[in-house]
Amino acid sequence: MAEPIKTLCVTGCLGFIGSHFTRAALKKGWRVWGVDKKTYAAHDEWLTEFEKNPNFRFQYADIAKLDHLFDVDYVINFAAETHVDNSIVDSTHFLRSNIMGVQNLLELIRAKRHYQMPVMVQISTDEVYGDIDKGFHRTSDPLLPSNPYAASKASGDMLILAWHRTHEVPYVIIRPTNNFGIGQYPEKLIPKAVKHLVLGKLIPLHGDGSCVRNWLHVEDTIAGILTILEKGKLNRIYNISGNYECPNTHVIKSVLKSFFGRTVSMARYVKTQYVRQGEDVRYGVDDKALRNLGWTNKKKFEREIVKIVRYYKSKIVW
Ligand SMILES: NC(=O)c1ccc[n+]([C@@H]2O[C@H](COP(=O)([O-])OP(=O)(O)OC[C@H]3O[C@@H](n4cnc5c(N)ncnc54)[C@H](O)[C@@H]3O)[C@@H](O)[C@H]2O)c1
Repeated sequence: MAEPIKTLCVTGCLGFIGSHFTRAALKKGWRVWGVDKKTYAAHDEWLTEFEKNPNFRFQYADIAKLDHLFDVDYVINFAAETHVDNSIVDSTHFLRSNIMGVQNLLELIRAKRHYQMPVMVQISTDEVYGDIDKGFHRTSDPLLPSNPYAASKASGDMLILAWHRTHEVPYVIIRPTNNFGIGQYPEKLIPKAVKHLVLGKLIPLHGDGSCVRNWLHVEDTIAGILTILEKGKLNRIYNISGNYECPNTHVIKSVLKSFFGRTVSMARYVKTQYVRQGEDVRYGVDDKALRNLGWTNKKKFEREIVKIVRYYKSKIVW
């Protein structure tokens, strides 16, 4: 018999990573029930694209208020408030979506116990571990989040572990590093830098830009998630590392070079902002468990950044 068709609930299907995942899942012939609250970070134009596929159905809903789960094999939760700076200004929406939203999804899954509980696949983040000077966090390390966003994501992970132990809700938690690619809201470093250049404004940079981030291309993230769904173990936590570490100043230099087609002086295009409160110095995660399943990074930062900058340069972003 042919392999059964997977049916998925994909929350946050109109956001940056969720939309790339939705596109990949539909391409595989899987059925996707997309749920999104359409915050400022959602892309309506991608909804038009997805709705052309008969295997896609959309529900405009808040995961914290959703009151029914259709029969699905997996609930893949990308829905979240995601911008650290916003969480420092006001954490209310972060706690609501990233904690109460997860709790509500877990309760909906638990209510299916007399039928079949779908697997809760939580897209978490490397930020739940807090920062690390050198070396790499393992999935067994304690969670020491530094900012309200990271704390809300860590809380979501904790709820899942508790609902598994108490209610036997099956789960997979996935913790990727910083993603980059097409379709990111321009509050995040790369599209924000291009937007400022297009508008002829200086790029705001936190502190001296020495914080190190680990960059993972969104298509590598999607390949990692698909590998885990197809070959991974249930009730496990997986890290995904971009394997490309650099300080934020290097990212800005790469953006400038791609934007102007030549090396330019960073000092002319950047204005230093305050240091972000609670700023993490460096993240690093050990992702051997995923690599042992055969996944590896395919996209190279220096090559991809050129295409990504070209995309944001040619598109008006708000
Ligand atoms: N972008 C990264 O670098 C990165 C890195 C690691 C982990 N993550 C995690 O991956 C997930 C996706 O991140 P992203 O960058 O694509 O986010 P995003 O901000 O681009 O998109 C989030 C999407 O979720 C929707 N949403 C928000 N709250 C909702 C709610 N309560 N109910 C329903 N929909 C809601 C928004 O409308 C939006 O479409 C998040 O859980 C985030 O924590 C992101």
